[in-house]
Amino acid sequence: MVKMREQWTTSLAFILAAAGSAVGLGNIWRFSYVTGTNGGAAFVLIYLLAIILIGYPLVMTEISIGRKTQKNPIGAFWAMAPNTPWWLIGAMGVSAGFVILSFYSIVAGWSLAYIFKSLSGFTSDMDFAGTFVGHITSVWPPIIWHAIFIGLTLAIISSGVVNGIQRWVKILMPSLFIILLILVLRSITLEGSASGISFYLSPRFGDVTSQTFLAAIGQAFFTLSLGMGAMITYGSYLKKSDPVPTNAGWVVGLDTVVAILAGFAIFPAVFALGFDPAAGPGLAFITLPAVFAELPAGSLFGFLFFLLLAVAALTSAISLLEVIVAWLVDEKGWSRSSAAVFMGIAIFLMGIPCTLGYNLLGNISFLGMDILDTYDFVASDILLPLGGMMTAIFAGYVWTSRKACKEMNTPECVIFVGTWYGFLIRYVVPVPIAVIMIVGLYQKFTG
Ligand code: PFF
Repeated sequence: MVKMREQWTTSLAFILAAAGSAVGLGNIWRFSYVTGTNGGAAFVLIYLLAIILIGYPLVMTEISIGRKTQKNPIGAFWAMAPNTPWWLIGAMGVSAGFVILSFYSIVAGWSLAYIFKSLSGFTSDMDFAGTFVGHITSVWPPIIWHAIFIGLTLAIISSGVVNGIQRWVKILMPSLFIILLILVLRSITLEGSASGISFYLSPRFGDVTSQTFLAAIGQAFFTLSLGMGAMITYGSYLKKSDPVPTNAGWVVGLDTVVAILAGFAIFPAVFALGFDPAAGPGLAFITLPAVFAELPAGSLFGFLFFLLLAVAALTSAISLLEVIVAWLVDEKGWSRSSAAVFMGIAIFLMGIPCTLGYNLLGNISFLGMDILDTYDFVASDILLPLGGMMTAIFAGYVWTSRKACKEMNTPECVIFVGTWYGFLIRYVVPVPIAVIMIVGLYQKFTG
């Protein structure tokens, strides 16, 4: 018996699910600290260029590959180019997803822990940096929260695309947006917020190096869930009648708006409260509680914020796990729930070294990075851009942009999207990625 592939019931459901995948820790936690450590506005500008010129065409491409083949990333490339090595792009994507979810879930676990910390109240006399460091350097709590987060993710995935993913993102995504707006308003009205706004908005091009470009494309790929087949997998559940460019536009637009707003929630507050914007991965966890302490009913906001951060992480994590689960279900004939449980356990184990890197394995470092940052670097700055570049080459030259465009299903395709898309996907996407990766990685490795 052939089982029908599930489909999103409406375009909106797809947009919310794909935006749910895109909007996550990457927009709030990662975007803010990467912006902070890469000099602020100049980084943001390069990041925005990468989103428009590289991210948007690739989101359209991945969705189209998924919809055309109705398969997981490995199966999709195999179906489009049988008996050729192109399926390796899919395999690299599934592996990147595995690495990302293992560290992502550790950070998501920090957010879960902070939901409970906020309940006991944030007060202005607290040592916010000390609380954060105390939490991540403890041995068991981060591992337990990591396990709980993976458990939640696999529970949703086991319920399927419509009853699990679609049902939850419809509630969770709008709530996230509202809370974020409230936080922005509070942050920009704090006394002393102006220098934070200027750090965030006035570019200092003198600070730009090859590392800034590498970090900007890494961030663009990470935040749009690109280069690892998440959009291929979600596209495979998209109805044939839905226009890809419009849907992709919504996903990219929503993701970018959330990231930019998160910057407005964080940087004005960082400066107003005298923190260092280049503090690194702890930025959101240290500064935001300090903002909440300044708010009337701050603990309530803190509670809501960390709840929603965890939720945003959850809607991204389900897309990460879905890629791997879809592969086991489509290609290996596993049931959804056994695939989810098996992979959940594997990812849980793979994540443990990341948190031990802050205590028992604290002496291990790679190019000056701890274990969690190393996982992130390998996945986001190497595997994702490489996967994206190969996908663009595949779509532009093997599948051909004309056929890709046909799959996108829009009457304007041939005139507008077609012309631009062909140019972008063949030249503008792959060439800068190759140059930035070669120069950026060479300098990173040679110091
Ligand atoms: N886009 C997610 C975020 O910004 O948090 C992270 C992510 C999800 C990356 C899914 C890759 C992916 F396939």
